[in-house]
Parts: sequence; structure tokens; C-alpha cells
Amino acid sequence: MEQKLQYIQARAMEEMSGAGSLEDLNEVRIRYLGKKGELTGVLRGMAALSSEERPRIGQAANRVRAEIEARLEERMSQLKDSLREKKLSAETIDITLPGTVFSTGKLHPLTAVTRQIEDIFLGLGFSIAEGPEVEMDYYNFEALNLPKEHPARDMQDTFFITPEILLRTHTSPVQVRTMERTAPALPVKIIAPGKVYRRDDDATHSPMFHQIEGLVVDKRITFADLRGVLQVFAEKMFGSETRTRFRPSYFPFTEPSAEVDISCGMCGGEGCRVCSRTGWLEILGCGMVHPRVLEMSGYNSSEVTGFAFGMGVERITMLKYNLDDMRLLFDNDVRFLAQF
Ligand code: DAH
Repeated sequence: MEQKLQYIQARAMEEMSGAGSLEDLNEVRIRYLGKKGELTGVLRGMAALSSEERPRIGQAANRVRAEIEARLEERMSQLKDSLREKKLSAETIDITLPGTVFSTGKLHPLTAVTRQIEDIFLGLGFSIAEGPEVEMDYYNFEALNLPKEHPARDMQDTFFITPEILLRTHTSPVQVRTMERTAPALPVKIIAPGKVYRRDDDATHSPMFHQIEGLVVDKRITFADLRGVLQVFAEKMFGSETRTRFRPSYFPFTEPSAEVDISCGMCGGEGCRVCSRTGWLEILGCGMVHPRVLEMSGYNSSEVTGFAFGMGVERITMLKYNLDDMRLLFDNDVRFLAQF
């Protein structure tokens, strides 16, 4: 019996070493340790042994079992390891393959330019104010010294919702709304970016466009302050070489009023196709706040003065990037937008 056990152990060991896969190994296990396995068979046969022999053979059988099990474990982990090795070496990575390109979004040029303008004025101590796009006739015209039959209203025809409510034609009503809120506190120093609407539609006009309004009200504000602020703005926005030129103009809400040109960045003021040979490009309207506007908004025009300006974001963007058609900014063609 003992000899038989030794023989079983030797064969089991040999077969386990010879097993080339986990499946083969499992078959070996079943053949020796399974219910009908060889070792199990020996243990069953022990009933026939004498009571002296039984414990000895029993111990020997248990030892054989333990050794087979230990070897089984060992062989199993060997086979698992080599299986993993094989998988890893089959899985090659070609590091020369091109990677996956993820395209990232970016700001629309109008948004980027608006933020740039905001940053310049925030740096000069201005804060940002906002007003509604659906505006009352009173704020859009009346309180800006444009009474009902004023001829200058014709230049800003717009979309009316009722005779008293309209889509604002400019950001200037935010001047009035701000002053009404803050009067008589000083100083007022705001810019107001936002959408505006007019009955216009061609290569340089869109029925919806963007403006940025500026307003400063304080004691002893002069036209020189206006010039200084806009010169700093022009240099920061278009480069330190940029010069400005103030031309007399007319707006009902400012007196005196001016239109501001910057020296053409393309030719440096020499005159070229971009500036129609004038050397100058118009960028905004401005002036000293009309005393009547100050009064209507709650400020005492004999004690305070102010200046205001308004610029078109599309126009600034077109000048900055030398675009010849405003509609490019609204088509949302990625081939255009990706260039910024
Ligand atoms: N609101 C004017 C427009 O849309 C622009 C403008 C001119 C604004 C002069 C101002 C200003 O604040 O002082 O045409």
C-alpha cells in the first residue's frame, strides 16, 4: 500500500510538471484528487486494513495528498505567470502612430475683443454696467435728449414692440439707468457692453450688433480727460504707435461731440486701401455729457460734468483683424472662426 502511494505521488508530480495549460493541470487534479481519483481510491480501500496499519497508511496518504496539493498550487501560478507573459509580449504598442487629436473650442472673436476692451477699462478703474435689450422709448431716446419728433431718431430706426417699448438702438440708455441709480453719488465711471438693434443689413451693418458705452461723471471732468482716456485705450487696443484724431460731430446727448479716428495700422497714416487713402479709421463717437441729460438723470449740471463714448465691437474687431465683411462674424463658419 505504501508503495502504491509513492507510485501515485511520483506519477502525479510528473504529470503536473508536464501539464502545459491550466486545463491540463485541472485534469490531472481530477485524476488524482477527484471523487473517483486514484488517491481517493486508496483512501477508500483503507477500510480493509488492520487497525495497526490504518493510522500509518492514513498519515502517509495525507502527506501524499498535501504534497500533491502544494505542487498543484505552485504549478498553477507558474502557468498563470507564463500565460500573462505571453499576452503581454503579444500586445505591442506602436509609439510612432499619430495620436488622437482632440479639437478644443475657443472664444468667438467678438467675445474675445469685448473682453479685451473690458480689461483695458477695468484697468483704468471703470466698472461694468448692464441694461435691458428690450428698452423703453424714454431711456433709448427721450432721456438722451432725443424727444419724440427729433430728426436724429431717423438714423436709429429699430424694431418696436409697442410705441413705447423697442429693441434698444444703442447702449447709451445704460448711461441714464446708471445715473438714475447712483445720483447724486460721485464719481460715476462705467462701461456698458451689450447687444443693440437697428433696421440695417449689408456688408458693414447687421440688424443686431454690439456696442460698448463709456460714461464718467464727476466734479471738473473735462474734454482733456476724455482725450486722455481714449488715447490710452487706442494704444492698448491697437498698439503703442497708434495716434488719435478728434473730429467735431453731433450727438443730441453730448455737447460738444466728436468722432474719433485712429491712425491706420496698415500704412501707419500714409494712406492705403484699408483707410481709403486718408490715413485714418473711425472707431467711435463721444463728447461731453449734455447738461440736460445730467439733469434728467438726477445730477446737478452746474456742479458736475462728464464725458461719454460709444463704440461698435464689430467695427473694432474688423479693424483689428482687417476683415472686409461683417457677416463673417455671424456666419459661424468654423473655417473662419478657427483662425483666431
Ligand atoms: N450712441 C451713439 C450711437 O450709437 C454712439 C455714441 C456717441 C455714444 C457719442 C456716446 C457718445 O456715449 O457720447 O451712434
